Amino acid sequence: MENKTYSFEFEILKNNELSETASKVINEAKKATENSYAPYSKFQVGAAVLLDNELIIKGNNQENIAYPSGLCAERVTVFAANANFPSNAIKVLAIAAQTGGKFTEKPITPCGACRQVLCETEQRQKSPMEIYLYGTEEIIHIKSAEDLLPLAFEF
Ligand code: THU
Repeated sequence: MENKTYSFEFEILKNNELSETASKVINEAKKATENSYAPYSKFQVGAAVLLDNELIIKGNNQENIAYPSGLCAERVTVFAANANFPSNAIKVLAIAAQTGGKFTEKPITPCGACRQVLCETEQRQKSPMEIYLYGTEEIIHIKSAEDLLPLAFEF
């Protein structure tokens, strides 16, 4: 038998510790929550990606009365970026969420399905995607999407 351990390092930042680029992408993710369609969960998630051509693409969660038909903000955003700019790598992804008119204090983290999509996008573009998860109390900074999904499905 062999035992293996998985661990990864990430940063917890305060607003005033963010780089100019990180602040910009996070602000776009916060703005993106405004166009979320979330009448069922009332949980508005926004995401923004910074491409290597310096464009920022925004997206948000889009729900549907047939619940599983909706999609998370992360996948809406990454798929929109890949659909329109298939040869531009995503350098940075930021995520923010609000409910009851307030941004969450703790950052929200991508669901399992989104992590799988983020990992494959990273493999496809052959460069790391930095991730910022926004909360009013703290911001989580992750160096690469693959950190979020050990043993990701691949064949
Ligand atoms: N949601 C996202 O858009 N991203 C996440 O990281 C977690 C959850 C959405 C799905 C659903 O529309 C709502 O938030 C409540 O789960």
